[in-house]
Amino acid sequence: MEKLGDYLASQCGNPRGVIGKIMTWAMNRANNVMYKGIIEEINISPKTKILDVGFGNGYLEKLIIRKSPCSITGIDISEDMVRKATEANRKYVASGNMKFQLGDCCDLSFKDSSFDVVTTMNTIYFWSDTAKGIAEISRVLKEGGIFYNAVIKRRRYILQCCYIKGKLR
Ligand SMILES: C[S@@+](CC[C@H](N)C(=O)[O-])C[C@H]1O[C@@H](n2cnc3c(N)ncnc32)[C@H](O)[C@@H]1O
Repeated sequence: MEKLGDYLASQCGNPRGVIGKIMTWAMNRANNVMYKGIIEEINISPKTKILDVGFGNGYLEKLIIRKSPCSITGIDISEDMVRKATEANRKYVASGNMKFQLGDCCDLSFKDSSFDVVTTMNTIYFWSDTAKGIAEISRVLKEGGIFYNAVIKRRRYILQCCYIKGKLR
């Protein structure tokens, strides 16, 4: 039983194969209130550049772009999720509004001050080095940029919203 628990936890931290697809599909349903919370909170315009860390199957991206056209880049450590999210959002990828790539938030390949908004949902528990991940997110955010971190704590959904490069909100 412990082994099954460990396996499912590892699938959440790095979804792979058919089980990974099923798990991320189930997450989309189970965490509906979290997606809605982020969508309601973020201000987006066609000029907004968003980075989503750990996009899973790319469900949040679809909801964001339906709210407003914008530019979204996603990074995830799972190759399978890069393929899945790209396929699920092929219309927006083809139009140049969305891009999904392999990457680890603890070592981002982007230049300083590249994004207006960084989002991450249910991923921070899986990062190998939380402080490094936060430092990297801060580096790639523009001055006054906003970092949204959605987590579940004791079965409750929490949306932390910080102006990393300015004062805490
Ligand atoms: C629980 S899933 C959440 C997926 C999506 N954010 C959602 O809520 O629907 C966690 C995702 O974070 C990714 N991930 C874990 N550690 C990561 C890291 N250090 N950098 C980028 N992505 C990471 C995993 O591959 C997985 O797709």
